Amino acid sequence: MRLSRTLLGSLAAVVVSAQYNTTQPTACAELASALPERVFFPEAPTYNASISSYPFIQLRLHPNCVVRPTSAKDVSVALGVLQQNNRTRFAVKGGGHNANAGFNNIDNGVTIDMQSLKGVEVARGDEVVRVGAGALSQDAYDAAEKRNLTVLAGRIGVVGVAGFLTGGGVSFLSPQHGWACDAVVNFEVALATGEIVNANATANSDLFTALKGGQNNFGIVTRFDVKAYPATRIWGGRIVYAPSAATDLLNAFTEFKTPKNFDPYVAGWVTIRYNHSAALFNPVAIMWHTKPELKPGGLKQITEVKPQVMNGMIEASISEHTRNASRQVVATPRRTIWATTSFHVNPTIVHKVHALWKSLVPEISETYAYANPSGELTFQALPGSPRKGAAPNSLGFSTNDTPEKDMVFLQIVFTFDGAQATDGLEKGLKDLIEVVEELTQEEGVYHPYKYLNFAAWFQDPLRSYGKEQKKKLKEVARKYDPKGVFQKQVSGGFKLL
Ligand SMILES: Cc1cc2nc3c(=O)[nH]c(=O)nc-3n(C[C@H](O)[C@H](O)[C@H](O)COP(=O)(O)OP(=O)(O)OC[C@H]3O[C@@H](n4cnc5c(N)ncnc54)[C@H](O)[C@@H]3O)c2cc1C
Ligand SMILES: *[C@@H]1O[C@H](CO)[C@@H](O)[C@H](O)[C@H]1NC(C)=O
Ligand SMILES: *[C@@H]1O[C@H](CO)[C@@H](O)[C@H](O)[C@H]1NC(C)=O
Ligand SMILES: *[C@@H]1O[C@H](CO)[C@@H](O)[C@H](O)[C@H]1NC(C)=O
Ligand SMILES: *[C@@H]1O[C@H](CO)[C@@H](O)[C@H](O)[C@H]1NC(C)=O
Ligand SMILES: *[C@@H]1O[C@H](CO)[C@@H](O)[C@H](O)[C@H]1NC(C)=O
Ligand SMILES: *[C@@H]1O[C@H](CO)[C@@H](O)[C@H](O)[C@H]1NC(C)=O
Ligand SMILES: *[C@@H]1O[C@H](CO)[C@@H](O)[C@H](O)[C@H]1NC(C)=O
Repeated sequence: MRLSRTLLGSLAAVVVSAQYNTTQPTACAELASALPERVFFPEAPTYNASISSYPFIQLRLHPNCVVRPTSAKDVSVALGVLQQNNRTRFAVKGGGHNANAGFNNIDNGVTIDMQSLKGVEVARGDEVVRVGAGALSQDAYDAAEKRNLTVLAGRIGVVGVAGFLTGGGVSFLSPQHGWACDAVVNFEVALATGEIVNANATANSDLFTALKGGQNNFGIVTRFDVKAYPATRIWGGRIVYAPSAATDLLNAFTEFKTPKNFDPYVAGWVTIRYNHSAALFNPVAIMWHTKPELKPGGLKQITEVKPQVMNGMIEASISEHTRNASRQVVATPRRTIWATTSFHVNPTIVHKVHALWKSLVPEISETYAYANPSGELTFQALPGSPRKGAAPNSLGFSTNDTPEKDMVFLQIVFTFDGAQATDGLEKGLKDLIEVVEELTQEEGVYHPYKYLNFAAWFQDPLRSYGKEQKKKLKEVARKYDPKGVFQKQVSGGFKLL
């Protein structure tokens, strides 16, 4: 009995993989004939440029062809062809900054690279900025600032708006205005049915809510209409401290994240970097104050920690900060993997999490020393929930929760060279998350929330929103994508079904 069930199970698995694992040879040819000049094959420079545009080496997979739509209509035509060729698997790429291999690209299938759809325009009497889904955060800031406006986008210019906004989005103005997804007033979406619809507070409002956290499970967003805010200069940047400053820095961060000290104008993160070949731990703060006239405000303690090796705090426009920050990350592409967890802040937890990570990360790295691993432990603030009466998102916090005041999320990162180290370092990430969560549980500060945009493929951020939320997301997926194209043919991303 047991044996035959196992046999049936593995047979079913074979059938499923046969169905979704191969590209029907016709799919790319049909795409090329439906969308002349938008489909690129491996020998084309544009194909090559698309693959090279992924910032982390492990993301540079090789699809049979790359589709580069230049309009919402192109996206809908591509979806029509792919739906017919229903064994062809495909991937959707915005800015390409999700670190999980296979989430934004694919081997053998088809990749829809949105990067040509990146127009940004200010509309509706300067109230709204319409951002093409292939835009990078820098494109959005640059266009908005020309009109003395700004938006909630990534804090490093190279981050794509599409993944950022559909996964939540932590921005400079988030302490004041909340998640970036809550500043979206309308999503224009190409559905699997080929229809192009708006999702906003009054039309398809269930889809509107689902896209704020549910990412690529419902359709391909082709344009984001986001709230425009007055442009502002911000004071901030990077401070690199001497290794001996770690404890003081984590004290200062803990103080900063104590509810009574909540400052709605301070954003950023504190990181401890570990370089295995140098055997050094370096503390870094990357923080900004969005009202320079009130500086240092909540940043006082963090900026006063000493000794400092480098202090790059400076007042400038948002676009200048994000452009310079991009230069820091673009340098030489390596392999980067990450995972996340969240917890409530108490006076000791940040120190205890740090001590635990610090005790394990050299050991994990030593096994893969040949891959020159470095590690990062980053503490970041979470945005608040939409206020009572505002349009909801899907992230699972209630209007009574105050994550902006009393919670942080953690990013644990490994950066390295050499594919052979991937499995081992992923196992290391998994173990680190597990022991940190055991610790936060013991301390009574654990919170299930996992920020999707920093979650590893082996985590389940959609479940972390709560049972109710996940159920609603499934219903929306079934309603707008009855054939399950985004569940089955789109192999990458966090799935609902
Ligand atoms: C250097 C760096 C800085 C970062 N800074 C921040 C920050 O300040 N704040 C923050 O919150 N996060 C930040 N992140 C995390 C970031 O939000 C995620 O990496 C996010 O996925 C990036 O979006 P993308 O469009 O570049 O990603 P992609 O990898 O292109 O997309 C991510 C996912 O979204 C899906 N997707 C892409 N386009 C669409 C679309 N048009 N419609 C539907 N689904 C789509 C993809 O299929 C994929 O699964 C940062 C990441 C990096 C690497
Ligand atoms: C297709 O399936 C085979 C056998 O299961 C596997 O070896 C191969 O890697 C799969 N290809 C893709 C693109 O997933
Ligand atoms: C792009 O083309 C160059 C030259 O043909 C080649 O060396 C390189 O490996 C290609 N890059 C990718 C990502 O395929
Ligand atoms: C794929 O399309 C064929 C032909 O239209 C259809 O018979 C089949 O049921 C479809 N398969 C799936 C999984 O939708
Ligand atoms: C831009 O906006 C700011 C803040 O609202 C304002 O102080 C400034 O005068 C504006 N500048 C221009 C050129 O309109
Ligand atoms: C919401 O969608 C409807 C239907 O397409 C559209 O008429 C309306 O202008 C949209 N609202 C916003 C705020 O974009
Ligand atoms: C780690 O340290 C080594 C040796 O000092 C140095 O060459 C390397 O660039 C450092 N790596 C990173 C990622 O900083
Ligand atoms: C950006 O870099 C330029 C050139 O190095 C520098 O002059 C400027 O002060 C920097 N601005 C910020 C905000 O870091």
